[in-house]
Amino acid sequence: MTQKLNLAVLISGSGSNLQALIDACKAPDYPAQINIVISNRPDAYGLERAKKEGIPAIAIDHKDYTSRAAFEAALQNALEQHPVDLICLAGFMRILTAEFIEKWPHKIINTHPALLPKFGGKGMYGEHVHQAVLNAGETESGASIHYVIPEVDQGPLILQQSVPVRPNDTIETLSARVIDQEHIIYPRAVRLIAKEKLKQQKQA
Ligand code: GRF
Repeated sequence: MTQKLNLAVLISGSGSNLQALIDACKAPDYPAQINIVISNRPDAYGLERAKKEGIPAIAIDHKDYTSRAAFEAALQNALEQHPVDLICLAGFMRILTAEFIEKWPHKIINTHPALLPKFGGKGMYGEHVHQAVLNAGETESGASIHYVIPEVDQGPLILQQSVPVRPNDTIETLSARVIDQEHIIYPRAVRLIAKEKLKQQKQA
């Protein structure tokens, strides 16, 4: 029986990256399992994706909390209800404070739809990223999976995959090309981390 790394996946929207992780976890030899899905938006379709698979899924609406610290306390409390070795941000649109990140050292990863360190940082999310890439006349873009540190999108890179930017690309065509690669490298990155962390746990 393959030992499994325990995942929490945090989302805010469609959850197509969550779906890629759900699909990867279906392989018996995949070294990870999703124990909890949390969305800061109650209407996130990703919650439906989790529920369809029988994965515990909850919404912690950031608008219900008067401060970022109070929201993160609720998030932390929910995470502590399950075994969690690695938190996977998958289209999660909230900035996490240094205090929260410090509770999960080297245990939070994120996907970003550009070739970091370019086109990352505050304000660089979703369509804004692809618009900036097109405006800059880049000939390539891509997807990045990285560890989360307090400085937004500046954590150590785990995996990247480039894609061409074509002359007649729009935000829609470019984002579709990029997210296809996210769906491939996110599960691959989790597998790499899981194998490493499970080996460390064995040696501990
Ligand atoms: C992804 O492109 C991710 O990089 C960005 O938002 C998108 C999330 O998509 N942060 P989904 O919710 O995983 O479908």
